[in-house]
Order: sequence, then structure tokens, then C-alpha cells
Amino acid sequence: MERVFSGVQPSGVLHIGNYLGAIKNWLELQNDYQCIFCVVDLHAITVPQEPKELLAKTIEVAKIYLAAGIDPKKSTIFVQSHIKEHAELAWLLNTITRIPELERMTQFKDKIRGQKSEVSMGLFDYPVLMAADILLYKAAKVPVGEDQVQHIELARSLAQRFNGRFSEVFIIPKPMVRKEGARIMGLDDPTKKMAKSANSAYNYIALTDSPDTIREKIKKAMTDSGKEIVSGPDKPALANLLTIHSLLVGQPVVEVEQQYQGKSYAEFKNDLAEVIIGFLEPVQKKYNALDDSEVLKILRAGAKKIQPIATKTMAEVKKVMGIIE
Ligand code: TYM
Repeated sequence: MERVFSGVQPSGVLHIGNYLGAIKNWLELQNDYQCIFCVVDLHAITVPQEPKELLAKTIEVAKIYLAAGIDPKKSTIFVQSHIKEHAELAWLLNTITRIPELERMTQFKDKIRGQKSEVSMGLFDYPVLMAADILLYKAAKVPVGEDQVQHIELARSLAQRFNGRFSEVFIIPKPMVRKEGARIMGLDDPTKKMAKSANSAYNYIALTDSPDTIREKIKKAMTDSGKEIVSGPDKPALANLLTIHSLLVGQPVVEVEQQYQGKSYAEFKNDLAEVIIGFLEPVQKKYNALDDSEVLKILRAGAKKIQPIATKTMAEVKKVMGIIE
């Protein structure tokens, strides 16, 4: 079975964009691939984190995985820092990474805007650690949202470079990006992606938002000029809302458009809020029923299960690089 690897950072608020762009697709892969889903705490600390919050968020993300339907009997879920080889491989990959390759990363450029003197080396090196995550398990496929594709391209380049320079150790991973939902936009600004770290809570629907909050946020969500409920390049706000609606009900956007022909923005928004609430209700119920210590057990068991893969890859890497084990 081919291997799939993906992860989410335990920082900020997990939102409907994370679900539609990534986690929803993971669910569909569980039967056909050997799936490994990680809570990437070492990535989260590349920007300052409150230690207590990091700890809580790490468990929270794992709970979201489970509540959304990741089945620990089929897929492995674990915490990145529980397997030391991630950091070790990142260091070795650093030695074949070129500085301009990292300087060109869009996400890095976005994140450092206006705060260059405070930027950590970790943030710059973030994509190399991500490459290590993927290559360590020889994952063939990486299901992510569109914003992570450039990072996966780097992982591909590093794998190719390493294999060419030393020996064929790594599998060249491929990003798996869905046409729909790979870039859910901010509710308050449909020209920018929905983001965990957004300044305003009206940017996103958190997976843990209450029904009233969801109603309020959708009511306030930006719309486009005009009256019709249609998607299109000149209707970025509606296109985004229609995409969310379509993915959650499992109907193509054109069908949703037809359903709302002649109806008002208010009617559409009311229904959309209820669709989101209806979808989140069972997820939140499961989430609230999960016990922290049970979740921690699942995470530790997950790390234990995949540790041999990491150990084996590192031994291969060191051998071909001339590092004594
Ligand atoms: P993170 O935590 O920022 O986001 C988790 C996943 O959600 C997707 N995503 C979105 N999809 C659609 N619309 C949006 N507005 C949106 N915002 C976020 C992301 O593309 C991602 O798939 N670097 C990664 C975590 C990571 C990782 C890895 C992923 C670390 N190592 C190895 C894959 C493989 C990140 O920061 O994701």
C-alpha cells in the first residue's frame, strides 16, 4: 500500500478551510492508503507560542482528527516531536538545501512582512522540516490545501537531489490537491485565504464555533454586488460561500446555484449557516466526548507504531551519507 502523510499545526484556530482543504480528503484515503497524520508541534513553535496553549492545542488538533472521522485503527495519528528523527532528518536535509530555495517561499514572505527583525531561523527553515516529515516515511502522496503545494515542491526537489547525490533512498512525493475547497477564502475578505491566525474571528468558521456564532459570522460574511446567487471570477465572495455549501452537502456548485435561483442573499446565507451547523454538530459532539488521556494514549501508540519506519529511513540516510550509526 502506498503511504500518505499530512499534518496540521497546533496553533491558532482550526477552521472550516482546514477541514475542507485537508482533513475531509484524508477521510477518503483511509481505506486505500497507509495513512499517517501528524500534529506538527515543531512547526507551530516557529512563531512564538504560549507553552500552556501549545500543549492544549496539540491535544485539541488530535481530537479534531478523531472527531472528524480519522480512525486510529486504520490510520496512524501522532505528535511530530515524539519521533526525534523529524528534527534529525531536517538537519541533514538542511545541508543540501539552498538558501534561495527558502527565500522564495511565498508563505515565508507573507509571514515576515513587516516584522523581519523578529523572524526566527525556525520559520525560515520550516519547509525543510516539512520535507523531512514527508520523506522520513517515504510517503508517495501528501493531501493538502493549495497553500502547501510550494512546500511539497521543495520536498520533491530535495528528495531528487539527495537520491542523485547519494543513493535512491527517498520516494518522490506528490501533492494531492482537490479542485474544490483547496483554497477557502476569508469570510471578511474573499481575496485572501481563510487563515488560522487571522486578526478577526469573522474571517473564519472555527470547527468549534457554536451555532449562534456561526449564524452571526455567516450573516456578516461579505457578499458581492448584485442580487444573484452565482459563482464566478467577479463574484469571489459568493464563489467562496457556494463552494463551502456545495462541499458540505456533497452537491456540485451549479446545483446549489440552481436551487437558489431567484432567492435572496439572506435566504442563501440562512441556509448556509444551518448547513454548517448541521455538519459540525456531530463532529463537536464527538470532540466533546473525547477524553484527553485517551487521546494521549492514541497519540503515543501511533508514534510507537511508526517509529520503526523512521528508524529504518534514518539508518539508510546515514549509511549513504557516510555517517557512522
Ligand atoms: P496548516 O496547519 O496551516 O493547515 C493545515 C491544512 O489545512 C490546509 N488549509 C487550507 N485549505 C483550504 N483553504 C484554506 N483557507 C486553508 N488553510 C489551510 C493547509 O493547506 C493544510 O493542508 N505546513 C503545514 C503542516 C505540515 C504538513 C507537513 C502538511 C507540516 N508538515 C507535511 C503536509 C505534510 C501547515 O502549516 O498546515
